Amino acid sequence: MNSRLTLTCLFLGISFHISSCFDPISLGAGAAIGVGSAVIGGWTFVQCRIFECCNSRWVNTNMTGLASRLESQLYGQHLAVSTIAKHISAHMRNPNPTKALGLSFQGWTGTGKNYASQILAKHIYRNGMRSKYVHLISATREFPHADKVQQYKENLKQWIEGNITKCERSLFIFDEMDKLPNGLLDVIKPYLEYYEDISGVVYRKAIFIFLRTLDAHVLFAFTSNTAGQDISQIALKHFHSAQAREDLQLKDLEKEITRATVNTQKGLWHSELVTKNLITAYIPFLPLERSHVKECIVDVLVDKGYLKSRKERKEKADLLNTIADELIYYPNDEKIYSTTGCKRVAEKVDFVLEDI
Ligand SMILES: *[C@@H]1O[C@H](CO)[C@@H](O)[C@H](O)[C@H]1NC(C)=O
Repeated sequence: MNSRLTLTCLFLGISFHISSCFDPISLGAGAAIGVGSAVIGGWTFVQCRIFECCNSRWVNTNMTGLASRLESQLYGQHLAVSTIAKHISAHMRNPNPTKALGLSFQGWTGTGKNYASQILAKHIYRNGMRSKYVHLISATREFPHADKVQQYKENLKQWIEGNITKCERSLFIFDEMDKLPNGLLDVIKPYLEYYEDISGVVYRKAIFIFLRTLDAHVLFAFTSNTAGQDISQIALKHFHSAQAREDLQLKDLEKEITRATVNTQKGLWHSELVTKNLITAYIPFLPLERSHVKECIVDVLVDKGYLKSRKERKEKADLLNTIADELIYYPNDEKIYSTTGCKRVAEKVDFVLEDI
């Protein structure tokens, strides 16, 4: 603010040959204000060419191409790709949405929940995950102690209000929802409601994404009521029915997801966000098959320069199999799904290449 004022002063000083910039008598007050605000406006314009601002230069609302970008980068997630693209496009296109968008991504580890939110951030914000309007909030990093919930609630409220006041089109990604202290999320509730505004600030243009990881080992070992288990079991049943994976539809999973979500006791799932239907959509991330894991391996090999392009994979079938063999698959007898999805692929690639 200070530097702006000085600059305005300097500019006025030069153009009107006035010695005292702030002397109201030597300046026609009206003219001063007019010229002053024009200069500030011009300065803001220049500033926003260089530094990130909350405008269309830095925040893209045109979501054309998002679906194909998600599709080409996320393997084996046809349901997630289409539903995410639909909800995000509709929300970004609307200059006046009725409520903030709340999406819950859930599924096994390594199935692309984090990755999908990064792709979204890159598509919307010119600075991607580095944008000052994108907030990745990790439960274990930011809120490690269950007994400090009261203080965390205060912090979280301030963050949301402070950040959305700066930019209505802010993106909040809550990682590790399953580890969030109970009750904390109820703080978010007002910002996901259908309020016109809260103390003059409009929260309806913001996007909240909740990532919830479910552990494959646990899922297959117990028959508890978690959503991830139902996703994987429905997927497995579908797999056995010999239908194409892509024929699995959201409605096949929806009932199970909602039922399981409301019944479980942890984090988000205990919160009013769920019981009051403030989450716009629950998006299932299906367990990844061996063929999807190989796609991820190819990406890593290209990334490391071991392959020049994805096309070269054909000559490397054995290598891909060797690396894919390093991962663990479930169920034990059939070995269909990678328990860690694509998560540990990079380290397995290093491990295998070490021996070559
Ligand atoms: C915005 O959110 C971040 C957390 O991502 C927080 O550290 C920061 O203080 C918030 N800014 C404001 C103005 O509240």
